[in-house]
Parts: sequence; structure tokens; C-alpha cells
Amino acid sequence: MKISCVTTFLMCGNFDNTLAHNLFYVNMETPTQFISRIISNDRISEGFFELSLSWDPRAPVPMPGQFMTVRVGSLAVPLLRRPFAFAGFDADSSSAAIIYQKRGAGTELLAAARPGDELDVIGPLGTPFVIDTDQSKHVIIAGGIGLGPMLFLSSALKSRNIPARFIFGCRNKSLVPDTKMFTDADPQICTDDGSAGFRGTVADYINTNVSLDNSTTIYACGPSPMLTSVNKIAQSSGARCQVSLEAVMACGVGACMGCAVPVVGGGYARVCKEGPVFDGGEVLWERM
Ligand SMILES: Cc1cc2nc3c(=O)[nH]c(=O)nc-3n(C[C@H](O)[C@H](O)[C@H](O)COP(=O)(O)OP(=O)(O)OC[C@H]3O[C@@H](n4cnc5c(N)ncnc54)[C@H](O)[C@@H]3O)c2cc1C
Ligand code: FES
Repeated sequence: MKISCVTTFLMCGNFDNTLAHNLFYVNMETPTQFISRIISNDRISEGFFELSLSWDPRAPVPMPGQFMTVRVGSLAVPLLRRPFAFAGFDADSSSAAIIYQKRGAGTELLAAARPGDELDVIGPLGTPFVIDTDQSKHVIIAGGIGLGPMLFLSSALKSRNIPARFIFGCRNKSLVPDTKMFTDADPQICTDDGSAGFRGTVADYINTNVSLDNSTTIYACGPSPMLTSVNKIAQSSGARCQVSLEAVMACGVGACMGCAVPVVGGGYARVCKEGPVFDGGEVLWERM
């Protein structure tokens, strides 16, 4: 795995030293807090929206896998910022995008926001995916709300002329966005009920249709059960696997340990700081 230089690496509490050697070390610049303006906020499928917002040119350029936290309203509730992964970034217009699902109070407010409204944003946060340039096969797997970051990664691979398979899984056809969302990917759609594409989960699809070996890197983001299955398949085939984890976050900047996940060898890693992208082999999946 290609590794760039370390500029930021924080250790905390019960954090395991051996893990530090195996985590992705990345060149992370200091995240910036700024007031952004919404450019567009459009429904793309049942309950899912794509939001494009202005990006302060003084803030670092986000990379696929990293996320921002957003203060979704000006009132005291909801108090906590909500984390969302970058779904895209356009340096020319200095704008970023997220794809989000309306789930609770925070995302309800976000879905009601209109172009021109302001959002208080902090980013980019966390670790990005590491593009494995020494591997010959690349498989991108997105489930549900994992779509945004994987579309961003797909664009990054395409811009480097690295071919990749793109597999997107969701419950049913109503959750599949319009094909115009997949400009940089030719997706294999999987639905649990078979109402669109392959009938079954992304793990079912990989097991029956994708040949994996030690020249393959899988990049995955989605619900925890999906990541657990994908990681298991990767480990048994010798493929490398990078996963972007989700955790409910409080501070989002590494201070509270609220997002800690158990790691192999003992101890915990913070999804907001050492993650959200981890090597699949580092996560203690049975305790997730
Ligand atoms: C690093 C990271 C990146 C994320 N990227 C995206 C993204 O690109 N698109 C997207 O739609 N969502 C993403 N999420 C999840 C998103 O932050 C939550 O959906 C959002 O905070 C819910 O806020 P709410 O106020 O609407 O819901 P709440 O009222 O807070 O919760 C509603 C429901 O959502 C669940 N939930 C809340 N937060 C999370 C979470 N972090 N992970 C899983 N379930 C949660 C709750 O358990 C509850 O069942 C990401 C989370 C993390 C940690
Ligand atoms: S959310 Fe506070 S440490 Fe990650």
C-alpha cells in the first residue's frame, strides 16, 4: 500500500500502538470552519438528496472518504453537527457536494433548506481512501448512504485512468438514483427485492459475479452488516479492503471518543480522526 507522509496523527486513551503502524497515514491539512451557501438541494431518489454548497477557497481541498460536519439549523436543537461524506468537489467553482438520506430531525431540516441558505461547515475531516496504484483490479462498493463518497472515489480513479467496477446496493428500486448521478461509473445495481438489477445484496453479487484475488483492492462504504460481509469476502480471497465506517458522532474532531470502534489487537480507534477510512483487517468486526 502506498503511504504518504504523516503530518497529523493523534493518539488517545486506550489506543493501541500496533494499530498506529498499520493505519493509513495521510497528509492531512487543518480543517476549516466557515459559512457556506447552498447552491442546490435536489431529491435524487426516495428520501435521498444531493446538496451542492460553496467551498471556502481557503479551506483544504477535500479527498474521497473525508467528511464535513454541518450545523443544520440556527436553533439550539439539533445541537450537534451532523457528519456527511463528500460526494464531489469542483475546484473551478469552489463547490462541494454531499448525498444524504432524510432520517431524523437534522436531515429533515437540511432537506428543507433552499439555494442561497447558509450552512455552518467544518471540513475536510478524517482520513481519505488511499488509491492503491500498485493493484490491477479495483472494486468500489456502495450501500445506501455510502453512495456519495464512492461516487467521489470513482471520479478520482477515472481522472487517473484507473478502471474500476462500481457496485451499488439498496433495498429496492425506489432508492436507486437517476443514471445521470453515475457520470464517472457504470454501476451494477443490486436490490434486496430484485426490483432493479441483481436480486440480492452486494455481498451476494460479489460472491457470484466478481473474481477477487491479491491483485484486487475493494473500497467500500455502507451499513455495518454490508461492510462486515464485504470484509470477510476480501479476507478469504486475499483482496485488500478499505472500508469507510459510520458512527454516531458528537464532537467530530477527535475530542470525545464518542465514535470509537474496537480494533484488532485491543483498544479503540476514533472514526472521526483515525477514520472514517480503515483497512478492513484492522477493525474488530465481531464487536462492531
Ligand atoms: C463519517 C460519516 C459520514 C457520513 N456520511 C453520510 C452521507 O454521505 N450521507 C448520509 O446520508 N449520511 C451520512 N452519515 C450519517 C449521517 O451523519 C446521519 O444520517 C445524520 O447525522 C442523521 O442526522 P438526523 O438528525 O437526521 O438523524 P437523527 O435524528 O440523529 O437520527 C435518525 C436515525 O439515524 C441514525 N443515525 C444518526 N446518525 C448516524 C450515523 N452517523 N450513522 C448511522 N446512523 C445514524 C440514528 O441512529 C437514528 O436511527 C455519515 C456519518 C458519518 C459518521
Ligand atoms: S466524535 Fe468525538 S471523538 Fe469522534
